[in-house]
Amino acid sequence: MSDTSDANPSLPPPPGPGSRPSLDDLRTLRDGPHAFLLQIARQYGDIVRYPVGPLAVYLVVHPDGVKHVLQDHAKNYSKDTFQYNLLSSITGRGLLTSDGDFWLRQRRLAQPAFHRQRIAGFAGLMTAYAEAMLVRWEGFAARGEPIDVAADMMHLALQIVGKALFSIEIGSAADELAQATLVVLDHIVGRARTFGMVPQWLPTPGNLRYRKALAVLENAVNATIAARRRDPGNAADLLAMLMAARDPDTGEGTPVPEAQRSGMTDRQLRDEMMTILIAGHETVASALAWTWYLLATDPAAEAKLHAELAAILGGRAPGVDDLPDLRYTQAVFEEALRLYPPAWIITRKALTDDEIGGYRVPANALVVASPYVTHRQAVFWPDPEAFDPDRFSEARVAGRPRFAYYPFGGGPRLCIGDQFAMTEAKLVIATVAQRCRLTPVPGHPIAVEPGVTLRPKHGLLMRIEMRDVASQA
Ligand code: HEM
Repeated sequence: MSDTSDANPSLPPPPGPGSRPSLDDLRTLRDGPHAFLLQIARQYGDIVRYPVGPLAVYLVVHPDGVKHVLQDHAKNYSKDTFQYNLLSSITGRGLLTSDGDFWLRQRRLAQPAFHRQRIAGFAGLMTAYAEAMLVRWEGFAARGEPIDVAADMMHLALQIVGKALFSIEIGSAADELAQATLVVLDHIVGRARTFGMVPQWLPTPGNLRYRKALAVLENAVNATIAARRRDPGNAADLLAMLMAARDPDTGEGTPVPEAQRSGMTDRQLRDEMMTILIAGHETVASALAWTWYLLATDPAAEAKLHAELAAILGGRAPGVDDLPDLRYTQAVFEEALRLYPPAWIITRKALTDDEIGGYRVPANALVVASPYVTHRQAVFWPDPEAFDPDRFSEARVAGRPRFAYYPFGGGPRLCIGDQFAMTEAKLVIATVAQRCRLTPVPGHPIAVEPGVTLRPKHGLLMRIEMRDVASQA
């Protein structure tokens, strides 16, 4: 990798397919863009250049290239991409989509709210919501009725993020908000695929549905901010921290007297809340849904998980102190994130000419890193399609480069919610797996839908079989 961002102009462009797709390319494109990216990575190697209309996209596959883009030369790779600009029509200038000094200021303000100790304080409510879901599941188990695990995980994750971060009780509104989230995200994915050909202002049925769903989300967020401005109460959630946060410097390191330090405007609060609602629940939910599916396909892994839970918890509810001991539970979730990374594609724009892996990447190029693709490189992941949580044993992790695995990204833009997500996932898996087993409904189709996350295309219909908790004590 180059140490500077000015590449030698005589460097060759990366290899890749021409502008006329082959039959193989067309076949994999039909399976989805994630399958296409995997196919061209297999064909062309560590970095691939492929045309999309009149543009060229640079897919970075090798961990060294990913590290270069996300970490070592992160300053040369901005979020000013078509994909992030579309997302910002929902999240405004929230943490996920903003860049530069503005982003840095917001990140500093938000970071303390995601401190490990703060997240530990949410453990009780994470487990409590999972238990409340199990009460409902008992009825389904008794009636032998299947549930859509993907929908229930969305519902659960939304309740958790709503309560932990904004102290909102998303009870009956959870379905409406979860549905609105799916509508707005699907809409922008559709726009990304068609390169925004239908203008947003046209009153097409799709645009109208999008506006209505966005209004549902915005109204919920704005009402929460307004209520909190009227009566801050004693909430100790992210919203309270964001409202109380004051910028200690001007952004150039110049300290500002306490009384003059600025806080966030309502608009900034709105953007950060929308960002966290969007980034903080569908991601965890889709990975949890795949976790249940993968466990059901591997009785040996499921038995190993049950054995760990019996040994550590013996039937009692998991707490934050149990988390370090739930190593296999963590490995199960990490392996689900490897196979079905919710953020399956990460985009950047190259600001100046650069060199990656001996190839030239020109200024303004759209650079793509795909955890879905890198996580399937056989050099780092033998038998890559197999579900094998033991890949995440300490010794095996130590033998892989850092960026062979990056479900949460890396470098300065590393997911701010990674610890939140891991804590939530481990507690939910431990709570649910102690109490029941899930088995897929025979004949229900399983396919990947590559939207903003990788969700099960037809939902995930599974039957519930309650387990005897007393026998685990
Ligand atoms: C399994 C769950 C999750 C996955 C796989 C995931 C993945 C990611 C990835 C890959 C990025 C970096 C994107 C990039 O570099 O372009 C990111 C950023 C972000 N995530 Fe997550 N995320 C998850 C859960 C969460 C949760 C629970 C929250 C909040 C409660 C959250 C909030 C954010 C925010 C605010 C950013 C932007 C951070 C910044 O740029 O400063 N995420 N996430």
